[in-house]
Amino acid sequence: MATAAQAYDREDAVDQDAYERAFDAAVAADERIEPRDWMPDAYRATLVRQIAQHAHSEIIGMQPEANWITRAPSLRRKAILMAKVQDEAGHGLYLYSAAETLGTGRDELLDKLHTGRQKYSSIFNYPTLTWADVGAIGWLVDGAAITNQVPLCRCSYGPYARAMVRICKEESFHQRQGYELLLALSKGTPEQHAMAQDAVDRWWWPSLMMFGPPDDESAHSAQSMAWKIKRHSNDELRRRFVDICVPQAESLGLTLPDPDLKWNEELGRHEFGEIDWTEFKNVLKGNGPCNEQRITQRRQAHDEGAWVREAASAYAGKHTETGAARA
Ligand code: 3HC
Repeated sequence: MATAAQAYDREDAVDQDAYERAFDAAVAADERIEPRDWMPDAYRATLVRQIAQHAHSEIIGMQPEANWITRAPSLRRKAILMAKVQDEAGHGLYLYSAAETLGTGRDELLDKLHTGRQKYSSIFNYPTLTWADVGAIGWLVDGAAITNQVPLCRCSYGPYARAMVRICKEESFHQRQGYELLLALSKGTPEQHAMAQDAVDRWWWPSLMMFGPPDDESAHSAQSMAWKIKRHSNDELRRRFVDICVPQAESLGLTLPDPDLKWNEELGRHEFGEIDWTEFKNVLKGNGPCNEQRITQRRQAHDEGAWVREAASAYAGKHTETGAARA
């Protein structure tokens, strides 16, 4: 005869199976998984990992562009750039909030970022050397982000998918401002044209790396696609991005720095040269041109903002006490 504990275990196993079947059915039917729904631990963990990486990228990504706010060439350009950098902070907030719905607080995630236990996008470890880099980031980096992120609006996890809708709308504005900025430079003086071309030369390959390692080396893609967190593989999205950029580069009057780039009629897409995966791995290991600078500046900003967080919680506490006294 089964002991009470064994009977409980069996009941739990039956429940577990039923929950798992309901989860699988919801994913198969393209329904959204919501925070209070049962989900496998590994699904939760992979979402936290990806959303955290994404949120960290948004806030670290503020640094290379903020570098140019004081040197923007006109008031109009300065206002646009400030709005864009603020948007990135907002994206970070939506994403940290999405991670909170999975039971992981912002403090914990920021601590992991500051101690190098979580990643942010490789792209933000490159320096912004000239004003044209602001245009190249908008056109290429935000363009790559949109290509990667529009499918995330259909992610199986509700809060992440909904956050992505607004983020993608704002990223489209960012992409267009970058394109418009580069177009102005490209059609400007020969020096301005050269500056735009130099920026595209430096940002092109790192932008292709943003999509992650090749499919056969991507540790998480297969499972994330089965769970419908990711809808397309890294290579698929990278190819889509190249196809989008080629005609845009032509309209800009700029050249993409890849002698092997050519249209393949049979495949119905562009072929492109080999990506330097050694460089990518090095940047991920912390050895990119700006890794140390980015994380040092991030930690410093966090420490300097301690008084703001304290004041905000004191204010919230006071508000709660007043509310409780009134009730
Ligand atoms: N930079 C840094 N790390 C990267 C990376 C990159 N470009 N590409 C992959 N990695 C990391 C992964 O995070 C993973 O690390 P982990 O195991 O420690 O978590 C590892 O390399 C293996 O890669 P996988 O392909 O197996 O990982 P994923 O399935 O998570 O795919 C991804 C990688 C495509 C980047 C995916 O995480 C994703 O779509 N993330 C959401 C979008 C995002 O993070 N975008 C950041 C871009 S910048 C941005 O959005 C800011 C905007 O303002 C421009």
